[in-house]
Amino acid sequence: MKKKFLAGVALVGALALVTTGCGNSSDDAAGGGGGDKTIKVGFAQTGSESGWRSANTESMKKAFTKDKGFDLVFNAADNDPAAQIAAVRSFISQGVDAIVIAPIVSDGWDDVLNEAKTAKIPVVLEDRTTSSADDLYASWVGDDFKKEGETAGKWAAEQYGGKATNMVVLEGTTGSAPANDRAAGFGDAVKGTQIKTIASQTGDFTRDGGKKVMEGFLQKYGVKGINLVFAHNDDMALGAIEAIEAAGGKPGTDINIVSIDGVHDGMQALVDGKINYIVECNPLLGDQAADLVKKVLAGTTVEKKNFATDGAFTQEQAKAVIATRAY
Ligand code: AHR
Repeated sequence: MKKKFLAGVALVGALALVTTGCGNSSDDAAGGGGGDKTIKVGFAQTGSESGWRSANTESMKKAFTKDKGFDLVFNAADNDPAAQIAAVRSFISQGVDAIVIAPIVSDGWDDVLNEAKTAKIPVVLEDRTTSSADDLYASWVGDDFKKEGETAGKWAAEQYGGKATNMVVLEGTTGSAPANDRAAGFGDAVKGTQIKTIASQTGDFTRDGGKKVMEGFLQKYGVKGINLVFAHNDDMALGAIEAIEAAGGKPGTDINIVSIDGVHDGMQALVDGKINYIVECNPLLGDQAADLVKKVLAGTTVEKKNFATDGAFTQEQAKAVIATRAY
């Protein structure tokens, strides 16, 4: 089954749904699919760089099941933008009904999104955004990365803004929406304070990357020369904790840490006093993404941007919720 798609616009009457009959998926849905046929969906995931990513992949796989009317073709690109674009091209040539992408980086998507449009395959973006024009995808669901950065920055400004503070930054993947937007949001919030960025480098959102970059910062500045770490995600903060401990420092005390995600290991480190503050980034986007795919294929009007709700945690707040968190 394939339905002609007009860029996220609701189509009514005779224009609503046009079957071209060239799709690959033809099994009857087992129920709950909202239609009579299984919907074949290609999902181009970034890779498996972090705890957040594992939770996101699990959420997507639980939402796009056969029982719910989907046939999911899953690809994880190991954080390689060219491999991710190749995966999307392969979905197009397989004739899937819809494509979901969590873009590794923001730029470079115009050509392949135009190819999907020409093939009349709607694209839903999940998690990260692209710099492509809005009419090249149907909808997006994800978290407000700029607001996450702002929340982290506001907390840092309140805690340390009034005294000279040397901060190092562990950046996410260069060119990715969360790295760009979190940096911008944090920067806005600490403007005019005494927090000074003495070094900033990518750790690629991985624990290993965060550890290596932090080791370099510690070699250069020493434990005493760094007061604050802003990590764009929990995994890099966890790597930084290992590096600080190996250098003889006490994370959370000698060097304070603020990070983003709220995955279980990060929350445990917050409870243990090794991280000082965490801003949540909700990875459980699967049901919303699946709902959007169905609505877009049915010609129902959808919002272009759909934001998940995020919280933020001090140590006390983390203690209160850690046992009941879903990821
Ligand atoms: O795009 C969301 C980010 O990607 C998460 O903060 C990070 O952990 C992941 O790798």
